[in-house]
Amino acid sequence: MVTAGGDAPGLNAAIRAIGRCALDEGDVVVGVLNGWTGLLEPEDHRVLGAADLSGILPLGGTIIGSSRTPPLDDEGSLHRLIVGVERLELDALITIGGDGTLSLARRLSEAGVRVVGIPKTIDFDVAGTEVCIGFDSALAVVVEALDRLHTTAASHHSVAVLETMGRDTGWLAALGGLAGGADVVCLPEFPVTIDDVAEQLLARRQAGKLSSIVIVAEGSPIGGIDEPPIPLDVSGHPQMARRAIGERIATSIESMTGFESRATVLGHLQRGGSPVATDRVWATRLGAAALAVAREGTATAVAVRGGAVTPATLQELTDSRPHVPESLYKLCCLVG
Ligand code: F6P
Repeated sequence: MVTAGGDAPGLNAAIRAIGRCALDEGDVVVGVLNGWTGLLEPEDHRVLGAADLSGILPLGGTIIGSSRTPPLDDEGSLHRLIVGVERLELDALITIGGDGTLSLARRLSEAGVRVVGIPKTIDFDVAGTEVCIGFDSALAVVVEALDRLHTTAASHHSVAVLETMGRDTGWLAALGGLAGGADVVCLPEFPVTIDDVAEQLLARRQAGKLSSIVIVAEGSPIGGIDEPPIPLDVSGHPQMARRAIGERIATSIESMTGFESRATVLGHLQRGGSPVATDRVWATRLGAAALAVAREGTATAVAVRGGAVTPATLQELTDSRPHVPESLYKLCCLVG
């Protein structure tokens, strides 16, 4: 098995389920270390025994390590991964990851490798599944942060700006904002200007509300704020944390409205730490199902649909990306 891309709470619960079910069937369980790069290096794998799988259910991160997908656009790189699978004599490769990881898994599958994907991402933006491992845990962190910010902002009559992850989609900010009672919600899907944000805050103050909470997903387009180019990460994606959009919004709000404004960036706090119960349960169920499917060779992925774990295909999971719908955004704005 391999875990790739950003880590997420619940990965170890999935690893544990896959490993325990496999050991029960008499299989040899191999953990490819540190994401896809582990397939390229002969030494970067570990045979996992019962002891390795013990005590990891509540642990955040991944015991086999992860990394951002290296640039793999050419057939030569794909071939090197296939050689890695063959060198390890893997009958099947279970891949736990988000859109980028599952897309690469799909290419391996199309090249003839037996691969099964499990959806994982705190961004909740994998298609064809109602559950992505890690999202519920990250959402709980966002909501707790909002609960804490509310009391401080209310005491000081200030504006709190909370920056969440979410480069391309705003599920964490939208659902976090709903559950945590954010007053202004900025998402990658729905561009706004800093004037819009300031206007809403001024209107709230005029209505007698002395404090406000703004939640912003890191990838949200905010017109009217000057920004330098965003640096790229190793997989070629803009590294949104470096954009510091929360800080830029807070600074602009303060100068435009005169309200004391402070930014909080949740960053990797959203990805680390113990998984909540639902992530543990779904990760265990998805992991066990992925192993069954891998043994049978009957599907290339597993997903949750209609509240049940079901076989799926990597194509279904990677053909599109679910965005926050307008109806949900409108609800955020209505109740905010
Ligand atoms: O994996 C997706 C994600 O959560 C994005 O929302 C975010 O842009 C990215 O991870 C940040 O990853 P890192 O901090 O590892 O660069």
